[in-house]
Amino acid sequence: MKRDFVTMFDLSKEEISEIFKLTKQLKESQNKGIEHKILKDKTLAMVFEKPSLRTRVTFETGMTHLGGHAIYLAPADIQLGKRETVPDAARNLSRWVDIIMARVFTHKTVEDIAKSASIPVINGLSDLEHPCQIMADLFTIIEKKGTLEDVTIAYVGDGNNVCNSFISASIVLGFKLNIATPAGHEPRKEYTEKAKNTKLTHNPIEAIADADIIYTDVWASMGQERETAKRKQIFMPFQINRELLQHTNKDYVVMHCLPAHRGEEISDEVIDGTNSIVLDQAENRLHAQKGIMVWLSQHN
Ligand code: CP
Ligand code: NVA
Repeated sequence: MKRDFVTMFDLSKEEISEIFKLTKQLKESQNKGIEHKILKDKTLAMVFEKPSLRTRVTFETGMTHLGGHAIYLAPADIQLGKRETVPDAARNLSRWVDIIMARVFTHKTVEDIAKSASIPVINGLSDLEHPCQIMADLFTIIEKKGTLEDVTIAYVGDGNNVCNSFISASIVLGFKLNIATPAGHEPRKEYTEKAKNTKLTHNPIEAIADADIIYTDVWASMGQERETAKRKQIFMPFQINRELLQHTNKDYVVMHCLPAHRGEEISDEVIDGTNSIVLDQAENRLHAQKGIMVWLSQHN
């Protein structure tokens, strides 16, 4: 049976380890200049309902390294659900290409693509989850800290797709997660209800005090642009800045999935500071997604 990667819940702890092992090998091959055309002549269709820099470039570049080809389908190209139904588009793509990656507004759209497609489907971000981001981030944390055991991650800001994927990852993998959001902006209840290792608070200081990783993301996600001004007022106490970081007790690193809105969720001095590993994260999107594509192709 074909496998999809639509949410972190789609993988077991062992399978995530297998993908990290592949990711490490693929990164080493690339760094040593060793050819690794494992997906020679395979094609990835990349369906985008929203803008992207990292996701588009890393998937497309990853496919080039693996000997395959990626097709970018811009929001106006296939107009999912408008020109034809989502299942019809997914069934057509399945007759031509080998993998589909989709960035969508509504999570149900990527679920529907996965249900109708006969090939692996990867979630490149939905309103509910951003699992490729979290795979790259967890791989980065393992590179820096050696393990996920005994690591505490503090997520500070909006309880959004990235936050939800940290929770689903914590449920599968068991690392400790502290989440600080303003009241009314908590992550999805159906996720937090199941999350034994997750602490929820409205106090950013409480969340970061014992954290090894301090993570933030934009306060208004794609699709919420009209709420930007209102959110800025509510979220300002949650900004990751030098003053807040005085309350940390550990040798922490700062992470952000990017794009960053400098001066909002994170100050310039912090994102450009010595504890920031945001570019390592961005680089690892490439390696982790190559690992995901190779693993899915092996399990198809
Ligand atoms: N982090 C991330 O997914 O970036 P893009 O929106 O640029 O793809
Ligand atoms: N939460 C952000 C992540 C962007 C990569 C958004 O959905 O816009």
